[in-house]
Amino acid sequence: MSLPTEFVGSYPDPLHPLDPVLPEIALLGRSNVGKSSLLNALTARKGLARVSAAPGKTELLNVYRLPAGYLLDLPGYGYAKRSQTERRRFRALLEGVIRERPSLSGVVWLLDVRHTPSTADAEIHALLVEAGRSVLPVLTKADKLSAAQRRVALRERTRELGFAEDELLLTSSTTGLGLVELRESILQAMTGRR
Ligand code: GTP
Ligand code: MG
Repeated sequence: MSLPTEFVGSYPDPLHPLDPVLPEIALLGRSNVGKSSLLNALTARKGLARVSAAPGKTELLNVYRLPAGYLLDLPGYGYAKRSQTERRRFRALLEGVIRERPSLSGVVWLLDVRHTPSTADAEIHALLVEAGRSVLPVLTKADKLSAAQRRVALRERTRELGFAEDELLLTSSTTGLGLVELRESILQAMTGRR
C-alpha cells in the first residue's frame, strides 16, 4: 500500500496557509538523514521529493497533499558547510513551522540509526518539547547495518534519546523496512483514528 500523494507547492514562508485546512505532519531531521527519500518511499512515487547525493537540497517548505492531510518536507538542520545567512534562513523556517504553524498535528523526527544524536538534534528536540509537539522518532538507513549491528544501535539510540525502545521506528527507504508502520502512524495522526 502506498499513500496517494500530490505535490502542492514550495514556500519560503513557514506560515504559508494551505487551502483546505487539514492536519499536517512535518518531516524533520539533520541534513542528509533521508527525509526526502523517505517521503518518496512512503508515497511510492519516485522523484516526487527532491533527493540529493549532496546534502542541503531541500530549501523551502515543500507541501504534499494526501487525502486526509498534508506532509511537509523541510530543509535539514546541522549542515556545517552552509553559509551563515542560509543557516539562519533555514533555522527561521524550521522554528516558524515548529512554534507557530496552527494546523501542524505532529512531527516525524528522523535520525540516522548509525549515529549518536548531534547537538543540533538535541536543540531541535528541545524546541519540539517546548512547543508541545507530538513527535514520532524514526531511525533511517537501517539497510546500512547488519541485523546484529541494528540491535546494538537501536539500544544505544533508545538510551541516548530517552524514548522507550518500542517508540523508535526502524526504517529503510531502500528496502522498505518499517514503511507500512510509518504510513499507518501518519494516517492515524491525520485522521485521529487509533
Ligand atoms: P536534505 O534535504 O539535504 O536535508 O536531505 P534529506 O534528509 O532530504 O536526505 P535525502 O533524502 O536527500 O537523502 C540523502 C542521501 O541519503 C541520498 O544519497 C539518499 O540516497 C541516501 N539515503 C536516504 N535514505 C536512505 C536509506 O534508507 N538507505 C540508504 N542506503 N541510503 C539512503
Ligand atoms: Mg530533503
